[in-house]
Amino acid sequence: MIKIKIFLDTANLSELRQAMEAGVLDGCTTNPSLIKAEVDKGMKDLEGHIEEICRILGKGKPVSLEVVSTDYENMAREGEFLYKRFNPVAGNAVIKIPINPSTDGKDNSRGLRAIRYLSSKGIPVNTTLVMTPEQALLAAKAGAKIVSPFAGRIDDYIRSRSGAKFGKEDYFPAGGTGKDDNGIASGVDLVKKIVDIFKTYNIKTEVLAASIRNERQAREVALAGADIATIPFSVLMKMLQHEKTLEGTIKFSQDTVQEYKNVFGIKK
Ligand code: G3P
Repeated sequence: MIKIKIFLDTANLSELRQAMEAGVLDGCTTNPSLIKAEVDKGMKDLEGHIEEICRILGKGKPVSLEVVSTDYENMAREGEFLYKRFNPVAGNAVIKIPINPSTDGKDNSRGLRAIRYLSSKGIPVNTTLVMTPEQALLAAKAGAKIVSPFAGRIDDYIRSRSGAKFGKEDYFPAGGTGKDDNGIASGVDLVKKIVDIFKTYNIKTEVLAASIRNERQAREVALAGADIATIPFSVLMKMLQHEKTLEGTIKFSQDTVQEYKNVFGIKK
């Protein structure tokens, strides 16, 4: 079995079906923004939609579902509710808890408490919005099954702080800009540092590289040792493309003689 897992970062049923049919999908991550994208396209029955996501993926292929509240009690309650409501569909629900949803600087440990509570009930937790190795370490200590460093958003952060001009999907070098980066050179570097710490201490929590913006970043998080990469469908498709592959396809097609076509019963 290939150890790195590929998840799709989407709540779109058609994208999930296509990736499943292609045989490359190990799981799926959703979040409120991805759900909003489907609602904006006209999806009406959200609970039925989430059930269908769980069914498309099936047993053994986790589907991350995120809580919406930011206080401990409600995150714990919503996490339990989501798990009880959707895990029976295919046994693959994972609950996404933000590492620290405090917006006023108070009670910064509420995410950790929710992780600890849900994990103690046997509910698998994916910790989201992880932007530093120390957040990842604390999430793992609290019992998280998965931590999700947001590679693309850390690149955005470093770009904006350094004044560098990049588009959202532009490649950002793993070595970063060399400026004002809190010792984290890039999103890929963030993933690598978490992988290194977890290896050093034999921590079993999986590192899920999220917020992947382009195919080269997908390659680099694999090189960095991520256990999982969650990838938008558009990036997954770009990972398959190369102009020399296209050129070769056209040439082989042009060179296919009728004698060869006859073997397959293909007429002129
Ligand atoms: O998995 C997290 C992801 O959906 C965030 O991606 O591109 O909005 O930073 P992005």
